[in-house]
Amino acid sequence: MTGADEPDRGRAHVESRTAASATATLAACSAAARDSGGLRVKPDRIRVGIVGCGDVAHRHYLPALESMADVVSVAAVADPRDGAAAAVAAAVAAWSPGTEVHREVDAMLGGGRLDAVFNLTPAPRHGAVNEAILGAGVACYSEKPLAASVAEADRLIGLADRRGLLFLSAPGSAVTNRIRWLREIARSRRYGAATLAVAHHADPGPADWDEYTGDPTPFYREGVGPVFDHGVYRLHEMTTVLGPVRRVQAMGAIALPTRRVRGGPLAGRMIEVTTQDHVLIHLEFESGALGQLLASFATHDTLAPWLEIHFEGGVVSFGGKSWEPDAPVMLFDASGDAVGDWRPAREMPHDEHGVVEAGARHFIACLLGTESPVLTAEHGRHVLDVILEAYASIADGRAHDVATTFARDLSATGGP
Ligand SMILES: NC(=O)c1ccc[n+]([C@@H]2O[C@H](COP(=O)([O-])OP(=O)(O)OC[C@H]3O[C@@H](n4cnc5c(N)ncnc54)[C@H](O)[C@@H]3O)[C@@H](O)[C@H]2O)c1
Repeated sequence: MTGADEPDRGRAHVESRTAASATATLAACSAAARDSGGLRVKPDRIRVGIVGCGDVAHRHYLPALESMADVVSVAAVADPRDGAAAAVAAAVAAWSPGTEVHREVDAMLGGGRLDAVFNLTPAPRHGAVNEAILGAGVACYSEKPLAASVAEADRLIGLADRRGLLFLSAPGSAVTNRIRWLREIARSRRYGAATLAVAHHADPGPADWDEYTGDPTPFYREGVGPVFDHGVYRLHEMTTVLGPVRRVQAMGAIALPTRRVRGGPLAGRMIEVTTQDHVLIHLEFESGALGQLLASFATHDTLAPWLEIHFEGGVVSFGGKSWEPDAPVMLFDASGDAVGDWRPAREMPHDEHGVVEAGARHFIACLLGTESPVLTAEHGRHVLDVILEAYASIADGRAHDVATTFARDLSATGGP
């Protein structure tokens, strides 16, 4: 790994551009693309690298980056698995030719010509790979969680601060239109204060997904499990709307100890489940509001709303599946003299991009200076802290305080 103290190679830091100059670059790129009769390849695009060329890279990140092909190119990719990096290079060749292919992240970073890197490796590798990227003086977007411990997250945030580097973390929940809309309802106090959040992410997990092309085994092992992998989306949504958590209490159980892999290259293989596949977490927010989360890889399905926020004068309820762009959202207005009733929340803005794509696009927009950072590493560290304290609570049966916090953008214009 590249050491944290390795001197900066003197590359121009895209992330330190002023918003004005970055906006000018974007405008110039777009104008040039138009003038060239639709040619989308520009030499002055942001040069990104990708570490970890597996399922999520192909399924979500490449489409997100291609949707910004006028301002971004995939300059280099790294993955030790045979053919994985070359497959990503081939997949982007039409809009980003000449991608360098590497087996090791250090070799990729050693080229010294990257503006930013996406870390899409499996969760247990995130901390070390993030450290290599930031240590090389390159802006970093990490898949979640950004680290394995709060101490490691502190170290990474300190490193990014010292180097003046943009360091953001998935999930992209907070920059989706629907969560920006929900946060604005809470901020405006249209229905009074938010008092309660009830949420779940409950399904059988990736062993059951026909379309999954990766190895689902780590998802059922210590260090991943249903909270780190999926409950984390609900925790980011709840904390975006209700703010930081101050206390957690949790219970967990292994409900289904073995699984058969249904899809992908490992179809038919049996997996031992060694971490809790049902986890229930109770949350107390700093505001005094309460929250409840079910994260499970051991439910076949559920019809429960995946997120409900209860306000003093109303309720917002998200039904369907959280990943469906047109999942039904209902609003119960009991504010003022209104006779309470449910109605579809037609005023909620549509999301053109999924949550993973939204996060990747937000990172690029922040590099360009056209958006302010919302998916901060501090928010990722706080949610990591909540999850680790929830597992500590499962282990000892006690409620646990959460030491970290994060600053929320409470302005009315927290996004585009
Ligand atoms: N697949 C999805 O739909 C999805 C969605 C959201 C988030 N994620 C997250 O994305 C991350 C990757 O998930 P995935 O599903 O793509 O897994 P995957 O197993 O399909 O791909 C991970 C890739 O990383 C490579 N890798 C491992 N160690 C590496 C290293 N040190 N340097 C470079 N490459 C390395 C592996 O060889 C593999 O190709 C996980 O954190 C996961 O939680 C996945």
